[in-house]
Amino acid sequence: MTASAPILGARLKRAESLGDRVMEVNHAGEQGAVCIYRGQRWVATLIAPSLVAELAGNQAHEERHRAIFAAELARRGVRRCRSYWPCALGGATLGIVTALLGRRAIAATTVAVERVVLRHLDEQRAALQAIDVHAVAAIDDIAREEQAHHDASLRALGTASRPLVLLMAIVSGSTEAVIWLGMRL
Ligand SMILES: [Fe+2]
Ligand SMILES: [Fe+2]
Repeated sequence: MTASAPILGARLKRAESLGDRVMEVNHAGEQGAVCIYRGQRWVATLIAPSLVAELAGNQAHEERHRAIFAAELARRGVRRCRSYWPCALGGATLGIVTALLGRRAIAATTVAVERVVLRHLDEQRAALQAIDVHAVAAIDDIAREEQAHHDASLRALGTASRPLVLLMAIVSGSTEAVIWLGMRL
């Protein structure tokens, strides 16, 4: 069964509260993250087999995060975000392209994505602290693993070259745009 299965049924409502919207955008974002790692893993199987185990481990974490937000959406009776499939497609494309650029580009991508994600998780936690304990619990449940992904990739990246700094700026901007759009769709 996929993590999104419980929220496919009829009679689901659109997100109403801030907590609902944050849960649906985070759920779609985790789908994007799963697809980034999946795309990178496909390419790494061919050109960097030593990276496959770590990428598969990270993908499993992102699948767990997606399941946490899927369960929270199901509990609320809220359907998934319209950005869910665009996130999947964008994530897979980003994963494949960055993996083709090499192992440091893979690390740079994770650092850039997780930096944006961690900042948004902090902002979400602050905004929801007093009004939505379930949403805050879901955010707290994933934040430590996101930090671990960031820290491990930062170590693997070392000092970023100019092209990698440019790549990170593009990835950061795309991640910000996806979150911005997801909160409005
Ligand atoms: Fe995640
Ligand atoms: Fe992550």
